Amino acid sequence: MALYYMRKGIRKLPGIVIKAASLPEPTVTEGFGSRAKVGELCERDGISSVLLVTDKTLFELGYYVKVRDSIEKLGIKCTIFSDISSEPTFAIIEQGRSAAISCGADCIVALGGGSVLDSSKIIAASAKHPARNVRHYLHKFALVPDKTLPMISIPSTAGTGAEYTVGAVVKDNHGVKKSTVVIGLNVTHVILDSELMVKAPREVTVWCGIDALSHGLEGVLADVSTSFEDEKKSFECVRLILANLPMVIAEPENIEARQNMSRAAYYGGNAINKQLAGYVHAFAHSIGAVYHLPHGEAIALCLVPVIDAQKDRVRDKLAALALYCGFAGRHCSHEEASELFLTELRMMLDFCGTDRSLPEMRTEDYDRLVSMIDIDSINYSPPKTFKDEEIRAILDIIRKGGRD
Ligand SMILES: [Fe+2]
Repeated sequence: MALYYMRKGIRKLPGIVIKAASLPEPTVTEGFGSRAKVGELCERDGISSVLLVTDKTLFELGYYVKVRDSIEKLGIKCTIFSDISSEPTFAIIEQGRSAAISCGADCIVALGGGSVLDSSKIIAASAKHPARNVRHYLHKFALVPDKTLPMISIPSTAGTGAEYTVGAVVKDNHGVKKSTVVIGLNVTHVILDSELMVKAPREVTVWCGIDALSHGLEGVLADVSTSFEDEKKSFECVRLILANLPMVIAEPENIEARQNMSRAAYYGGNAINKQLAGYVHAFAHSIGAVYHLPHGEAIALCLVPVIDAQKDRVRDKLAALALYCGFAGRHCSHEEASELFLTELRMMLDFCGTDRSLPEMRTEDYDRLVSMIDIDSINYSPPKTFKDEEIRAILDIIRKGGRD
């Protein structure tokens, strides 16, 4: 109980701290095939040598070619590092950093999903200061004097928002995940290119889309004061995903819907940077770690039960979302409108075919899970602080796949 009061007492602290952090302010270029504009952006910024970081899959698909050609045709050197794996280790990132130093890179272009983008943040930080090795940047907070090398992010999925978030997650050489916040991350441009996403497997589209939705939604609900513009981006993130995720599932090559999804994911990244996540992420991180679930799948499991358990504290915000998304009219009470929003959320998850039960979850694991969730939640400023028995009750709902 003492820990509960401690967590409750410091609940608003992360939201206050994040307001003091220096955050990237990239330009955004959008459109099908827009990665071919990366050369122009490099030329405009006076870049002379680029390290293009990607993964083996995207390399084999040839998605890097438009990027490389647009850079080289303007007489800028482009060196490719395509060894990033889905769970990059320190050793791989160290190789990327060596490649950046050897080619004299003055810009990192990151083309890929969350693993590529997060690895590139550490490469951009560690290549700027060759006297320090990669490990130096893998503490809870990595302060980079004079900022990292400029980084241009080209996400290949619409989900993590990692193209812009200051957090990075990589594995050490023993397979243990390490997360860090890169203070001084210098993302100068983000390119949102739907051509990279139209062939994504259905489950990647679904899990990534629900993850992005959770970023915008938890941002809106967080007890963090932020600017009107940032608040609007989080609302827009939620609206765009609820309107466009069913569309990209039904029509994977719908370019407009794909483009909307990638903008939503970018806004979701903005929400993480400015408003932080919340208990949906604390539950998903803990359950995902214990039962080895991908992040998006764990988020889909936790989203409705966790939001539902907080709804009495955030009726006004859920009602505002319902109004903004067009699910409720001005005549509705906050109670009616907030329930309409949650109904639409459940319907969208049903349409996506997400399985919202986890029978392999064992009640014997609850003590461990509660403690993991308590610890993870300290990173956020959620609208309420759950007592341990409330967390257990939510775990029961997630395990059974029930809604209340
Ligand atoms: Fe997430």
